[in-house]
Amino acid sequence: MLNQPFFWGASLSAHQTEGAVNIDGKQPSVQDTRPRNNHTIADFSIAVDHYHHFNEDFQMLAEMNANALRISFAWTRIINQDGSVNQLGLDHYDQVINALLALDITPIVTTYHFDLPDTLQQAGGWHNPATIEAYLQYTRVLFEHFGDRVKYWLTINEPNIMLLADTKILGIHDTNEGRYKSYYNMMIAEKYAFQQCHELVPEGKIGPVPNISYVYPLSSKPEDVRAALDFNVIRNWAYLDFSVRCQLNPVFKAHLEKLGIDLHILPEHQALVDENRPDFIGFNYYTTATVSFPQAGEARSAGVSDQQSEDVYEPNFYKGVTNPYLTKNAFNWTVDPLGLQTSLEQTNDRYGLPIIITENGLGAYDEMTDDYKIHDQYRIEYLQQHLAAVDAAIANGVEVQGYLPWSSIDLISVHEGIRKRYGFIYVDRTDDDLKEMKRYPKDSYYWFQRVIKERSNR
Ligand code: BG6
Repeated sequence: MLNQPFFWGASLSAHQTEGAVNIDGKQPSVQDTRPRNNHTIADFSIAVDHYHHFNEDFQMLAEMNANALRISFAWTRIINQDGSVNQLGLDHYDQVINALLALDITPIVTTYHFDLPDTLQQAGGWHNPATIEAYLQYTRVLFEHFGDRVKYWLTINEPNIMLLADTKILGIHDTNEGRYKSYYNMMIAEKYAFQQCHELVPEGKIGPVPNISYVYPLSSKPEDVRAALDFNVIRNWAYLDFSVRCQLNPVFKAHLEKLGIDLHILPEHQALVDENRPDFIGFNYYTTATVSFPQAGEARSAGVSDQQSEDVYEPNFYKGVTNPYLTKNAFNWTVDPLGLQTSLEQTNDRYGLPIIITENGLGAYDEMTDDYKIHDQYRIEYLQQHLAAVDAAIANGVEVQGYLPWSSIDLISVHEGIRKRYGFIYVDRTDDDLKEMKRYPKDSYYWFQRVIKERSNR
């Protein structure tokens, strides 16, 4: 138990909302320097200018009855290229945290959400163990400086997606060897962060934040069932097994051995790994995945969504397929509310820790009417169905401690611009026209305001 009222609120990340990329000493991150093949979508340089609008944005969230907000800090605002601390970055986030607390909104802070400092990336990124040291210097600053006010921390956003997704975007090397060195270094960095938080933050709670999609077999053929179990390990459990069970998953390790990679816990890290565990699991959920077992020489499936690691393929291991029983959203993401219940229950069975749902939401083409309304009934339905799945998981014994949908406010999607919107609050800009970036509540905002009021007596 976290001894905390249920967290009702929403979620965002720094680089997708703040903008202000050259302001107050911010250094470039991999999100600022990443190659852009498609210049018709918005970049992060201005985003939704949350850097200058956070007071207004938080006020709207308070009026939505939110009692928690998951944010991230931008590493590149806080640490200069030479490793020194940027006081202006600390000052900015002091204002952010103090504004949330003044509104009775609990900040839940992700230390790092896809925006590795570019200087570290140039030196090898997570492939290089020096990045562990750099991360620890940064997290020490965070815990020492903000630990009096921030009690809930999340480590590294979705290391599993970082490994499985487009490597150039997220700062991971694209060879298998580089990838799995990055896995190890991120997992070790996270363990140190658990340790630091518990030492430095009075009453501090910290958790990992993977993206969990339960993996289904395409059929009851035993080979397909095996493929699903295996891909569950590769996609989901290899990360939480390290964080929570303090072990390298044996199926994962054996698979890497077949790829010629000897992954093991170094003797100097063994005590660190064994002795430092999280207090809860941050849980990002959008969809499930489905796989079959590919026979020798069998080709990749055609037409599988390239989102959320659905289009995966490893010969003689697993092959991503389209689930014939599920529908897709406007951006080709599979929608599966029941899968949320299953993913929560499977995670609970394995780890038995409290879970805070730190992302769940629908990317859609929202439109504003002439009278400034946004009728996003489809998002309300999506969230209603997913919330019902959360309720069902709770009834089945899962200790869910919060529901923080993605996202509080429209933001720039990781690779699809602002044409793909997630927020409860609409921001009036397009991919190529900044307009005045005025904020408007969507219908889903008023719906969630009622839900929170009814369910939390707020
Ligand atoms: C999650 C990320 O995996 O998916 C978010 O943590 C991201 O940063 C979200 O925005 C939705 O993905 P996308 O590609 O639509 O932005």
